[in-house]
Amino acid sequence: REVYTVGSKSFTAVAVNTAAKAGEWIKSKLGSHTKLAMKTSSHDLVTEVDKGSEALIRNLIMTHFPHHSFLGEEGVEPGAEASAEALEAHRDTEYLWIVDPIDGTTNFIHGFPFFSVSIALAYKGEPIVGVVYDPSRDELFVAEKGKGAYLRGQRIEVSGETRLSDSLIGTGFPADRSALPVNLTGLQAITPQVRNVRTAGSAALHLAYVAAGRLSGFWEIGLNAWDMAAGALLVQEAGGKITDTYGTPYSLSVRNVLASNGKIHDEFRETLKQADALGYS
Ligand code: IPD
Ligand code: CA
Ligand code: CA
Ligand code: CA
Repeated sequence: REVYTVGSKSFTAVAVNTAAKAGEWIKSKLGSHTKLAMKTSSHDLVTEVDKGSEALIRNLIMTHFPHHSFLGEEGVEPGAEASAEALEAHRDTEYLWIVDPIDGTTNFIHGFPFFSVSIALAYKGEPIVGVVYDPSRDELFVAEKGKGAYLRGQRIEVSGETRLSDSLIGTGFPADRSALPVNLTGLQAITPQVRNVRTAGSAALHLAYVAAGRLSGFWEIGLNAWDMAAGALLVQEAGGKITDTYGTPYSLSVRNVLASNGKIHDEFRETLKQADALGYS
């Protein structure tokens, strides 16, 4: 576990240490959260553990880097386009930390052990550090721009499938239910074409799994910046491809995401496109 105890003040070391601390704390609270609040609907929940994790992360990061900016999910007014508006407010900041304090809150509430802490640092709008930590498996995925993606100190790479028919694909269903029809249309189009589909409930971990070659690809309609910023860098640094569903290269403002090992990307996108399942308005 030497990766957790790096003593230096490098961006990556702080991101790694902070994600590990928050993750361990969240795990210790599993099954004992006391407050459950609805954000926009019963599909969109928050607990005191989400808020506590965000406070812990914010404090640690701001102690090290008081001049950096911070964007965390629970610091933003709930609702559609939440991250787009919040990002606009940070348009002129050089260093922006983008944090999802628990990605997979629904799983956390139900005790389904698939949730993560996602911490990214963007420089002038581009992720340069990405950490996704899964405390249930003690798996910490870390990427640094230009330096590769790692799990437990070992370099990770995307999978080798070249055809959709050999692929294992992930997806998810966002809290913003206006995106649900197009999600379901996409699911109906993709499922018969692939080996199988998994929807495990943490977009950040799905992206980390694409980076680690455990999923061949992942798409989801209606995500926010904090769900993807760390995972996007992991996918890129592991040799994969990440765009929006229309094929535009990934940026922080992407909401409909398509990530893959690169080799199946066009076929994946074409299948969604033919079903008219690329996005919603
Ligand atoms: C959610 C998870 C889920 C995805 C939703 C996200 P949250 O994030 O990533 O897998 O399907 O779209 O909102 O609310 O648990 O942080
Ligand atoms: Ca949430
Ligand atoms: Ca999330
Ligand atoms: Ca969250």
